[in-house]
Amino acid sequence: MTDSTTQSQAGLIDQVGLRWFFRLLSSSIGQKFVMGVTGLLLCGFLVAHLAGNLLLFAGAKPFNEYAHALHAQWELLAVAEAGLLLLFVAHVYLAVATSIGNNQARTGQYVMKQTKVPGRIIGANSWMFASGAVVLAFVILHLIDLRFGLRGDVKYLAESDPEAPFKNTVAVLNNPISRLVYFIGVVVLGAHLSHGFASAFQSIGLNHPKYMPLIKLIGKIFAVVIAVGFASIVVIVPGLKR
Ligand code: HEM
Repeated sequence: MTDSTTQSQAGLIDQVGLRWFFRLLSSSIGQKFVMGVTGLLLCGFLVAHLAGNLLLFAGAKPFNEYAHALHAQWELLAVAEAGLLLLFVAHVYLAVATSIGNNQARTGQYVMKQTKVPGRIIGANSWMFASGAVVLAFVILHLIDLRFGLRGDVKYLAESDPEAPFKNTVAVLNNPISRLVYFIGVVVLGAHLSHGFASAFQSIGLNHPKYMPLIKLIGKIFAVVIAVGFASIVVIVPGLKR
C-alpha cells in the first residue's frame, strides 16, 4: 500500500470521526470491551427471538400473524438484520483476534495449558472459543434452514403463503436429525452464555467485587432460561396437535 493511500484512508477515518473506534480496537483491552458490548447486544437479540418463537406454542395463527407483522416492516427489518450481522461479525472476528493474542502472549510462558479453576481440564478462554465455534456453526445452519429456506429435504411454502412461517419452521424441526442438531446447538449456546454473560460485564469494566457474584448468578439463570426455552421448542413443538 502506498503512503498516499494510507494517508487518504486516515483522512477518511478522521472525517467520519471513527479514529477513537480504531484506537479502541488496537488494544487488547479495547477489543475485549467491544466483544463484551457486542455479546450483550446479541443476548438482547436472543431474548427477542426466543419471545417471538415461544408463540409457536400458542399455535399456527398467532405465530403466523407475528411473523407477517414483522415482515411487513421490511425497511426496519432490513436495518435490524444489517445491525445483527455487524454484531455477529464483530463478535466472532474479535473472538479470533483476542484468542490469537492470548496464545501469542502465552507462548513460552507456560509449559502446560493453564486453567484458573482446579479440576477443570480446559481453560475458560478455550472453552468460550470452542463453544462459540459450535454456536457459529449452528447459526449458519439455522440461517440456511429458516432464513434462506435452502434445505434440500424440506418442502418450503413460499414466503407469501400465509401459513409459511409456522409450517416451514415445523417442517425443519420435524426432521429427527435437525432436532438433535438444534438441541445440541441450543445446549452449547447455554453453556457459552453461562460463562460469557458475566465475562462480558468484566470486559466492559462493570466488575465490582461486590456485584460480581450477583452478575454471575444472573448469567447462569439467563443461560438456563435461553437454553431451556429454545430446547423446549425443539423438543415439544413438532409433536403438538394442531
Ligand atoms: C428452536 C429454536 C429456534 C427456532 C424455532 C428459530 C426460528 C427462526 C425463524 C423462523 C427464523 C426466520 C425469521 C424470518 O425470516 O423472519 C429465524 C431466524 C434467525 N434465527 Fe432463529 N430460531 C431458533 C433458535 C435460534 C438461536 C438459538 C439463534 C442464535 C444463537 C438464532 C438465530 C437466528 C438468526 C440470527 C436469524 C436471522 C434473523 C433475521 O435475519 O431476521 N435462532 N429463526
